[in-house]
Order: sequence, then C-alpha cells, then structure tokens
Amino acid sequence: MKGIILAGGSGTRLSPLTLAVSKQLLPVYDKPMIYYPLSVLMLAGVRDILLISTPSALPVMQRLLGDGSRLGLNLSYAAQREPRGVAEAFLIGAGHIGHDRSALVLGDNVFHGSGLSEVLCSSRDSLDGCVLFGRPVPDPERYGVGEVDSRGRLVSIEEKPTSPRSNNAITGLYFYDDQVVDIARHIAPSSRGELEITDVNREYLGQGRVRMVELGRGCAWFDCGTHDSLLAAGQYVQLVEKYEGERVACLEEIALRMGFIDAEACYRLGDGMRHSRYGRYLTEIACAPG
Ligand code: TTP
Repeated sequence: MKGIILAGGSGTRLSPLTLAVSKQLLPVYDKPMIYYPLSVLMLAGVRDILLISTPSALPVMQRLLGDGSRLGLNLSYAAQREPRGVAEAFLIGAGHIGHDRSALVLGDNVFHGSGLSEVLCSSRDSLDGCVLFGRPVPDPERYGVGEVDSRGRLVSIEEKPTSPRSNNAITGLYFYDDQVVDIARHIAPSSRGELEITDVNREYLGQGRVRMVELGRGCAWFDCGTHDSLLAAGQYVQLVEKYEGERVACLEEIALRMGFIDAEACYRLGDGMRHSRYGRYLTEIACAPG
C-alpha cells in the first residue's frame, strides 16, 4: 500500500498563525503537526509515502523529514499549487500510486488510541473498495457523516447535514483499492471549485464497496483546523505524555517498534536531540531491554 499525506491548503481559519507558516508545520505540543498524520501511516505499516503541500511549504517539510531513510521510510514530495480539493491528491499522486492500493491522510488530522495499529493493519489487509474511519462526535453537523448498516457497510454519506442520521463523523483517513486514481479522474469539481473526496467515496458507495470502521471511545481524533481544536490536540498530547508516560506520534519510536529501524539507529536519532526531553526519551527506549 502506498501512502499520501495531503498537507497543503490555505489554513484561513487559523489566521494569523498561518499567514507565514503552513498549518501542518505548527506545533501540536512537542512536535510539528505533520508528525501526527505521518505516524498514522507508519502504524498502518505504510512506508512508501508521498507528501503533498504548497510550493512554499515543501522546502521546509523536506528539511524536516528528508527522504525518510532515517525512519526506514521512502518519502517523496509533490506540490499542490492551489487547494483544488482533497481528491486532487490522487491526480498529483497518480504516478506514486501506480497500480497499488493507497492510504490518504489529511495533514491536520491527529489520531491516537490503544490498538490503533491493529485496526489500521487489519483494515488494510481486508480492504475491498474503500475503508473510511468514523468517529462519534457531539456535533456531527460540522462534518461529513456516515451511516452504516448492521454489517458495518456504509449506506449513506451526508456532507454537513442539518439533521444528521448518525453522529459518526468521517475522519481524514481513507484507504482505497487500485481504482481510486481512475475514479478521481472522472469526478467534476463541485460548486466551490474543488475535487471533493466525498464524490470519490460516493462512487465506491454506489458500487456497495465502502466499509466504515468505527474508531471507538478508546481512540482520540482531532482535526486541528481551528484555534480551539489545535490547542485541544496539544493539551491532549501533553496529558497523555505526562500522565500515561506514553509518547504520541513519536516517529522514531514507531519506526523502532514496527521494525523499520534498529535500536542503534534510534539511539543515534535521540542523541542528536539530547537537549530535549523528546531526544532523551529516544535514547532511553533504544537502551531498554526488548
Ligand atoms: P481544510 O481544513 O478543509 O482546509 P485548509 O487547511 O485550507 O483550512 P481552512 O479551511 O482554514 O482555509 O483542509 C483539511 C486538510 O486537507 C488540511 O491539512 C489541508 C489539506 N488540504 C489540501 O492540502 N489541499 C486541498 O485542496 C484541501 C481542500 C485541503
């Protein structure tokens, strides 16, 4: 499976934070926002990843993450000149995807929870058509909402409905089979001039090939699109790291646990950042038995 992180956009709801800096480079507590969606793809076992961002943010993203080899990844980069919609990721990423399956994650989405890696890996392995990930929210009218039947198959998708049929928001993580590029090529821009991911998902829905995996109560999800949600995500990460003694989206640790790098490489990465708690944590886990 190939991965795509879509991390462009204009971030207008976060102005003035985003006037000079890409949203996805802003801090979510102790690391840049882009670490979080990248961690999700890594937890799904995806190592060949295309990062799409604006022409001005790309050089900074590249400075931050490089070619990915230090994390045992293969990272490449492409520009989205204008925010012409989430589904444009498949046109920009067509060459990267080739005839493989793909996982798309939005650059401002933070997921964390116990058993997340197992859920992602089993959804990847059993993929037939498309998998969406739903999360119950108190305000479903702000999101795309999915309604499932008793077998977990999606029966409807509604965009920002005034009277939602369920409280399951469709999150910014999507798994697709090898048809997605073709489907994205055939959808038309919406009235707001964007290639909508909902239109791609509706095409799979018409084929009866959408499964919605519900991320339960044990899984936290934030999209960091507003000042409040950005702060809430940061506070969540701070609390988990402080009181559960666990790191959220620590890329080097995930690379170690997934077997992408060995303990020696993890130690070296930590040693390079030893003046921060993050770096010292890496050297400690690299030396821990098991
Ligand atoms: P949005 O939050 O919908 O858009 P935005 O980031 O431009 O912010 P705002 O609404 O405040 O202006 O985008 C969700 C994610 O998808 C975000 O990480 C940016 C990314 N995105 C793109 O990279 N390109 C696009 O064309 C769109 C629509 C979104």
